[in-house]
Amino acid sequence: MARKIVITSGKGGVGKTSLLANLGLRLASVGKSVCLVDADFGLNNLDMVTACENLVTYDVADCIEGRCRPKQALIQCKVSKNAYLLPSVHTFSRTEIPPDRLNQLISGLATSFDFVLIDCPAGVGEEFKKAISSADEALVVTTPHLSALRDADKVLASLRSMKIEKVKIIVNRVRGDLVVGGLALSPEEIESALCTPLAGVVPDDDQVFLCNAGELPPDSKAFKAFKILANNVLFNKRKIFDYSKDYLGFWGGIKRGLKNL
Ligand SMILES: Nc1ncnc2c1ncn2[C@@H]1O[C@H](COP(=O)(O)OP(=O)(O)OP(=O)(O)O)[C@@H](O)[C@H]1O
Ligand SMILES: [Mg+2]
Repeated sequence: MARKIVITSGKGGVGKTSLLANLGLRLASVGKSVCLVDADFGLNNLDMVTACENLVTYDVADCIEGRCRPKQALIQCKVSKNAYLLPSVHTFSRTEIPPDRLNQLISGLATSFDFVLIDCPAGVGEEFKKAISSADEALVVTTPHLSALRDADKVLASLRSMKIEKVKIIVNRVRGDLVVGGLALSPEEIESALCTPLAGVVPDDDQVFLCNAGELPPDSKAFKAFKILANNVLFNKRKIFDYSKDYLGFWGGIKRGLKNL
């Protein structure tokens, strides 16, 4: 039976979909079978981040409304035979997905995978609650910006009220130069402010912006951070990507200066 993990956030655009796709592919690369479910109905883009957008035939609504079997809607990701995508509904008007049917669909999928990762819309509205109700673990994504932190705090409160007990945070888009220079909160400070353990730290890396998941260069900082994140999720560890090492010492100081020119 799969672990059902929802990736969520208070503020939009903090990197949920990118993190979910990359985490899924890292888990798949170590032999785990992974189903990526796009439960961001309407403003979905997990199919694009996984480069599956031209392969979509059926979607979540087709499964729920009986036009296909769930396995017919799954798309095997090009870069990994262990990762499958269940695409979101094609059009914004078709957002009426009953929560119990989504739950049923995800529980059914969970019997065939090691992990079901659920992409969730930002915020704490009805669509968020729908996506959360299908999961038994949550990863809350935040960036180091104060507005994102405040919204993450609200999501954490909401998750507590919904009795989701296994909750961790991922701090995304960390700028080592700013943390070392004392200009941004460190992930550890964020962890303590939100009173929630860290599952991972991902640096701000242009490669995430430039590449689809699965095409990230293995020597990129983000790739290394996703690998650590996947290991933490797998083994319930708290190893943190070393976001500061390039910016410490004499040469690090020069790098910081150059970055902030
Ligand atoms: N670590 C990172 N470094 C650089 N760019 C990033 C990083 N993480 C995400 N991004 C970029 O930020 C943008 C938003 O990411 P993404 O769509 O994954 O966020 P989201 O939380 O799913 O958004 P939404 O709330 O709209 O669903 C994308 O352009 C993505 O490439
Ligand atoms: Mg998204």
